Amino acid sequence: MNKQPEKSANTVWHRATVTRQRREQKNAHKSAVLWFTGLSGSGKSTLAHAVEEQLHQSGMNTFVLDGDNVRHGLCSDLGFSDKDRKENIRRISETAKLLLEAGIITLTAFISPFKTERAIARSLMPHGDFIEIHCFCPLTVCEQRDVKGLYKKARLGEIKEFTGISSPYEEPEKPELRIDTSRLTLEESMQQVISLLRDRNILPLQK
Ligand code: ADX
Repeated sequence: MNKQPEKSANTVWHRATVTRQRREQKNAHKSAVLWFTGLSGSGKSTLAHAVEEQLHQSGMNTFVLDGDNVRHGLCSDLGFSDKDRKENIRRISETAKLLLEAGIITLTAFISPFKTERAIARSLMPHGDFIEIHCFCPLTVCEQRDVKGLYKKARLGEIKEFTGISSPYEEPEKPELRIDTSRLTLEESMQQVISLLRDRNILPLQK
């Protein structure tokens, strides 16, 4: 955590007095990072926002970091080459870590196609705080849905390096949760996530 970065020599870590623990006590719930990964069109953003809505209505402090949105700001300088995707996920991982410290239940919705970058994200957080949720949905179904019309363009070669078509997606081997969004309803998927949060004592039972 306090490792001296090469280009920021001569900086000294300042230890906050308002700690994550104190924030969590004030919030009456723990913070965590719910890391949704899956193909474009697999339902990551829809599910993350639905879970957030439910948590928010129950009085929790939440925030969704969403791939498409973040690429309009923080990561607007990045494209979809392997190198850019890695940098995209690195920035999101560090942002999620800050939000975790801020006591917030953070939900990230990024394809995050590479195992190594997801493992790095996990390694940044204290053990147990990173919850990987694989929104599994067969490519054929994502392509049929084609909500944004991007698969069609990718097949026509109008979009290069498109995940699942011309760029790889490495499936998680041991995610905390694997949700088959082609079979479950949004409500069912949401309940699976909420149950996991309760099982892990991130949510208070009576909220
Ligand atoms: S990631 O691979 O770096 O994690 P991210 O989740 O930020 O991707 O962005 C994915 C979103 O960008 C998709 O949902 C889709 O709307 C859009 N997109 C545009 N071009 C591509 C592409 N070449 N591959 C995948 N998604 C793309």
